[in-house]
Amino acid sequence: MLPFAPAMRLCPTLATALSLTLLGCGSEPVVQPTAALDREALLDPTACAACHPNHYAEWSGSMHAYAADDPVFLAMNARGQRETGGALGSFCVKCHAPLAVRLGLTTDGSNLAQLPQKLKGVTCFFCHSVDEVGGAHDAPLRLATDGVLRGEIADPLGDAAHASTYSPLHDRDRAASATLCGSCHDIVTPGGAHLERTYEEWQASVFAQQSKGLACGQCHMDGRDDVASTVSGSPARRVHAHDFPGVDVALSPFARSAEQAALVQAQLDTRTLQAALCVKQVPGGAAIEVVLDNVGAGHGFPSGATQDRRAWVEVRAWAGATLVYQSGVVPDDQPVAGLADPDLWLVRDCIFDAAGKQVTTFWTTTSYESNQLPAAVTSDASDPAFYRTHVAWTYPRRPTGAATTPTIAEPDRVTMRVRMRPIDHEVLGELVATGDLDPAVAARVRTFDLASTVLEWTPAAATIHYQDGADLVDCVSRGLPGGRSATPAPTHTRCGP
Ligand code: HEC
Ligand code: HEC
Ligand code: HEC
Ligand code: HEC
Ligand code: HEC
Repeated sequence: MLPFAPAMRLCPTLATALSLTLLGCGSEPVVQPTAALDREALLDPTACAACHPNHYAEWSGSMHAYAADDPVFLAMNARGQRETGGALGSFCVKCHAPLAVRLGLTTDGSNLAQLPQKLKGVTCFFCHSVDEVGGAHDAPLRLATDGVLRGEIADPLGDAAHASTYSPLHDRDRAASATLCGSCHDIVTPGGAHLERTYEEWQASVFAQQSKGLACGQCHMDGRDDVASTVSGSPARRVHAHDFPGVDVALSPFARSAEQAALVQAQLDTRTLQAALCVKQVPGGAAIEVVLDNVGAGHGFPSGATQDRRAWVEVRAWAGATLVYQSGVVPDDQPVAGLADPDLWLVRDCIFDAAGKQVTTFWTTTSYESNQLPAAVTSDASDPAFYRTHVAWTYPRRPTGAATTPTIAEPDRVTMRVRMRPIDHEVLGELVATGDLDPAVAARVRTFDLASTVLEWTPAAATIHYQDGADLVDCVSRGLPGGRSATPAPTHTRCGP
């Protein structure tokens, strides 16, 4: 028994679930724990639910809980193991089922279906036991063996279920906490490509700066005032959301799918991009300019599995009832890459194998090319680097080799929106073709529209007017001061859309 074990009030069923001894169960049941959760029990997220029901419910709907059940993960890992003759080994599962690997229960993820659920995914015990981070990628995390759970609370209530201690790795107010998240959210492939770079991107951003920085948890674990446990006597504290919305959503039936999708949508709608939409009068007609700024993500947009993500801009222009121009109009059931649209602004990473061939198999990747929207590097508007994140794209594009840029008929209405797919049909279609993925799962690809980028331009709605050389420019915008100081968007040179 741990010191300072408090008397607790619990219902008998909970007491049974926790193997506690009931001291009195009349009108005033008082429950006195007899023993701390042993190591076996500590491994099981459901054992935490009794005292941390909100943390458990939120985590259950997170991609961390889903990481080893994700059918796309299972399909990619199975294909990777087969196509490398097993050489991939524990590379994938060491992040997607880290406890199972450390307990020696899986070496390649092929037996995940036979393992107890409590060992799958990125679990409570795993995160809360980390006591040292040994590097910046591929999960070099050391787990404490003392059974003490680490968190940000410096004065945890004496508690009978487990010992607790403060850890800067688990305190979103400390930059050190980004190393815990970052070590998994940063992948170097067996072939040496720095394929997923969320942590590296964050480190180079304004958000990693000492004085005014924001660690991952500041944006991904919203705080609220509540109790950290339901054990009586738990004081009011700042507690932190555990649903970890990013951009990805479960494609198979999963706890709290609807809540997860709503959180992702809200984050994309209000916390990610700002946009401006401009029409420029040029000799012979008009041109359209779109400016995007990744103001909200503490890393590139999209980040992480950017090779599977597709973010693109849809633009449509009318003169009266006539559609005079469009780009990025993609039917929901079609891959973006299938579009015959030379003007398309598509943001993604392309990945290549050792022979220079473009692939979707990230375990064979040795190099990549990215045109991500960068993260902010300064909040000082007088610094020229400030405008590096104002990224612009002009429509129509000048075809390669052409001497002049085409123009469009002058529009009286133009609309735009940024659309995003966490994973595209093209990537899932390959896994279906190799027999690794159920086509019903692949059919659930989701397309999000980012509300902050849904803009409609008309001459009357334009609020920003300026002159670019001899050309007049009129813009509508959400938050952005127009295209004047924008940087042309990076384009791919080694891959098409
Ligand atoms: C019988 C109740 C009970 C159970 C079961 C329980 N906890 Fe706790 N836990 C507490 C109490 C009480 C606190 C202290 C709350 C406070 O001080 O506000 C706490 C605190 C914590 C903290 C914060 C530690 C710190 O110092 O920041 C973490 C992390 C934590 N628990 C994780 C877990 C995990 C993971 C499980 C499941 C393996 C679990 N708990 C199971 C009661 C419990
Ligand atoms: C991906 C890693 C990760 C996982 C998985 C995780 N946590 Fe946490 N948890 C954290 C971090 C980081 C904090 C500290 C947040 C802060 O204050 O900076 C935290 C804080 C807590 C706290 C302290 C109170 C609070 O809300 O700040 C409790 C209790 C807790 N977690 C319980 C759990 C339980 C129970 C589970 C599983 C159901 C779980 N955690 C899963 C990372 C994780
Ligand atoms: C043990 C490795 C590991 C650690 C530590 C970890 N994560 Fe994750 N995280 C993952 C994996 C694996 C997934 C994706 C699972 C999937 O989609 O199959 C994920 C998913 C996510 C997502 C959702 C991504 C999306 O595309 O929607 C967010 C956001 C996230 N993690 C944030 C964090 C934060 C913040 C921390 C630190 C508090 C953290 N993670 C710590 C492995 C980890
Ligand atoms: C300033 C706020 C902020 C900070 C700091 C931040 N993020 Fe994010 N993150 C976001 C927003 C907003 C999104 C959604 C837009 C996007 O996809 O980039 C996001 C998306 C993600 C995703 C989904 C992947 C994707 O395609 O973009 C992951 C994973 C993630 N963040 C992990 C992290 C990790 C790990 C850190 C710390 C190293 C971190 N984030 C720091 C705001 C932040
Ligand atoms: C260093 C830790 C790490 C390793 C190694 C790793 N993953 Fe992941 N995986 C993650 C994280 C973190 C995410 C969330 C990425 C994001 O949203 O940015 C993720 C997301 C995913 C996803 C869902 C997102 C998507 O669309 O791709 C799949 C599928 C996946 N991983 C498959 C694999 C496979 C297969 C391997 C091995 C070839 C692997 N992972 C190796 C950490 C890892």
